[in-house]
Amino acid sequence: MNFHIVVLAGDGIGPEICEESKKVLNRVGEVFGHKFEYEPQDAGGIAIDKYDNPLPEHTLKACQAAQAVLKAPMGGPKWDKIENKKRPEAGILGLRKGLDLYANLRPVKLFDALKDASTLKAEVIDGVDMLIVRELISGIYFGEPRGIHGEGKDRYGVNTEIYRTPEVERIVGLAFELAKLRRKKVTSVDKFNVLESSRLWHDVAEEVSKKHPDVAFEHQIVDNAAMQLILKPKQFDVMVTTNMFGDILSDEASMLTGSLGMLPSASLGGKVGLYEPSHGSAPDIAGTGKANPLAMILSVAMMLQYSFKLLKEAAAIEKAVEKVLNDGLRTADIVKKGEKAISCVQMGDAVVKAILNS
Ligand code: IPM
Ligand code: MN
Repeated sequence: MNFHIVVLAGDGIGPEICEESKKVLNRVGEVFGHKFEYEPQDAGGIAIDKYDNPLPEHTLKACQAAQAVLKAPMGGPKWDKIENKKRPEAGILGLRKGLDLYANLRPVKLFDALKDASTLKAEVIDGVDMLIVRELISGIYFGEPRGIHGEGKDRYGVNTEIYRTPEVERIVGLAFELAKLRRKKVTSVDKFNVLESSRLWHDVAEEVSKKHPDVAFEHQIVDNAAMQLILKPKQFDVMVTTNMFGDILSDEASMLTGSLGMLPSASLGGKVGLYEPSHGSAPDIAGTGKANPLAMILSVAMMLQYSFKLLKEAAAIEKAVEKVLNDGLRTADIVKKGEKAISCVQMGDAVVKAILNS
């Protein structure tokens, strides 16, 4: 089969990990008999440099017309002085909104071989396998009014956290459907004891849960959830939460896997899915060969699974990643003290070699 993918290579380490991801995908194509066509487009910092716009109209149109979008991280200090509306991040948010990607899936799974790479004790994280389902196109990231107003000491900034009933219904409903394919437990995270937007979330989640009696359900308040993630991470199966809480908790949860460089993500909801690593563009190590391409490579596996329904092919990537880790190969972020790290390209090559049709 032929698949048309728009590739946004991003900024910082983006282009490097993107190359490795395409290499792996090409290998999957060879081994399983598919053809993946890539259409490069610009978004983020590079698009600001070229077009003075982090998400040019033609980029969004190309993404909307693709079968899937593969996106590398964007942004960096070069664009830090620009006002928020024109920053690389605004391009990312525009993409999510423009593709109607209300659901961000961030699987947090510890590869056995990485038990010791985490700052947390091996016995605490051993066996962690959870899915964070983050609402992605509403909440405080998009709420109006927003802005900075006034002058001098009267200057103030305002953002609005808003959730509407159908927005909560669809994301929590999806969390329940996903839980049915897993260990059948949903934890909804909010701050209902202080925030009205969270009280609404809480009430709607409760209602939705009644339609799924076969799935265990609980609420957690976000500060407690942050603590529970470190205390007893294995209690979680599917965690569903708001845009901002999901942003924060998923970075925290990435440490359960050893490194933020291991955490893939899929953004779903509209016709076209978008796949990107959860980490940033790491401009400090760009060009040094130190980047870990595995989160983006695992995001490619999610693309095969969710957009193309190529389950065997997705599993082949996951197995290949598992194999290279079991073989002891490590990029700098997950290397053990005293051992030698391999480069981004070497990691990509190793995964390519480990792709098997079995
Ligand atoms: C993420 C990132 C983005 C977010 C930024 C870069 C806009 O942190 O995908 O988690 O906050 O959603
Ligand atoms: Mn984030």
